[in-house]
Amino acid sequence: MTDRIEPCGKAIRHPWVAALYDWLCEAAERRGLAEHRRRVVGMASGEVLEIGGGTGRNLAHYPAGVSRVTVLEPDLHMYRRALPKSRRAPVPVRLVEGVAEALPFRAASFDTVVATLVFCTIADPAGAVRQVARVLKPGGRLVFLEHVRAETPGRARLQDLLTPLQRRLAAGCHPNRDTVGTLREAGLRVVQIERVEFGPPWVRPHVLGSAVPAGEGISRGG
Ligand SMILES: C[S@@+](CC[C@H](N)C(=O)[O-])C[C@H]1O[C@@H](n2cnc3c(N)ncnc32)[C@H](O)[C@@H]1O
Repeated sequence: MTDRIEPCGKAIRHPWVAALYDWLCEAAERRGLAEHRRRVVGMASGEVLEIGGGTGRNLAHYPAGVSRVTVLEPDLHMYRRALPKSRRAPVPVRLVEGVAEALPFRAASFDTVVATLVFCTIADPAGAVRQVARVLKPGGRLVFLEHVRAETPGRARLQDLLTPLQRRLAAGCHPNRDTVGTLREAGLRVVQIERVEFGPPWVRPHVLGSAVPAGEGISRGG
């Protein structure tokens, strides 16, 4: 099922990255990314929103406890490639064009928001986190798999150095973002986090975990 809504007004169009994305992912998926995807998406349940779903590489992994996945994606070149995967997915899927900073959904609409490899690219990550907190139902959570800024100063400096090039080559990807810090500063509380050693030296570590709107009880994990 595909919902085309009003164009999101942001020109995010990377035809070459979209054309190469599945091919580029294949090797990484074999080296462990597929398993990490399965784990993070396996934490989703109920009504799910996936932000920046790209070419739909998570869709095959959604578990039966998910009633529907709404995939938000602003780049129509990515979006088109997600369409065939949305038809083969084990759960109902709808695709929506839009950006995470302006989610076109009512407050408290989703049990789970899924973000994989996306906060590195979003223009205003703090704005997106605030939107995620807004659309989560009480008791809902964000589950994430993201590459983040290195803890060691030397590697973080390397990431700062390579970020301008990476942004140009990889459709706006910032390898030097402290995404976990952004989640916390913009209104979520990280309740579960695991470091995942994966990816090229300037795009690691990755973190896999979950977060809930700050102020909610801390009893939910796993
Ligand atoms: C590296 S890809 C990751 C795709 C997918 N999540 C995955 O795990 O393969 C980043 C995706 O974020 C999308 N994106 C970029 N800016 C965005 C924004 N402001 N809001 C939502 N998605 C965005 C891009 O179009 C792209 O599809």
